[in-house]
Amino acid sequence: MIQQTLSIIKPDAVERNLSEDIKKKFLENKLKIIKIKKIQITKDEASEFYKVHQSKPFYEKLCSYLSSGPIVVMILEGENAIQENRRIMGATDPKNAEEGTIRKEYGISIDKNSVHGSDSPDNAKKEIDFFFKN
Ligand code: CDP
Ligand code: MG
Repeated sequence: MIQQTLSIIKPDAVERNLSEDIKKKFLENKLKIIKIKKIQITKDEASEFYKVHQSKPFYEKLCSYLSSGPIVVMILEGENAIQENRRIMGATDPKNAEEGTIRKEYGISIDKNSVHGSDSPDNAKKEIDFFFKN
């Protein structure tokens, strides 16, 4: 099934000029970049975006981090795009990520793990609307 999903290149990766290398990973794996923009969000916006994690101990730090510098947000499209993007990203903690994944190659730590990707069709829709609904 052709799906769309939301991808974010997080501040640690944008700062290290890895956006082009990361985009190449998606394209090589047959995901199309339908929309893309480079923005910086406020901490309030990050807190809204990551609301699902509000009860977690890492929530505060996560929201500060996502709003700490420019990010690149993208709509990716392709066959099973949601699951495919998660596979291409690799495990949340770069230490556990498979060879060849973005987080294995570029992630620094569990918090500076270079990319975000939607985890379900419902969240993909919500997250795409969050960044791209006018
Ligand atoms: O990003 P992903 O969907 O793989 O992981 P998540 O469980 O939805 O967590 C969201 C983000 O919170 C992760 O990408 C990590 O950057 C961060 N996190 C963290 O800093 N410490 C943890 N123990 C778990 C997640
Ligand atoms: Mg997640």
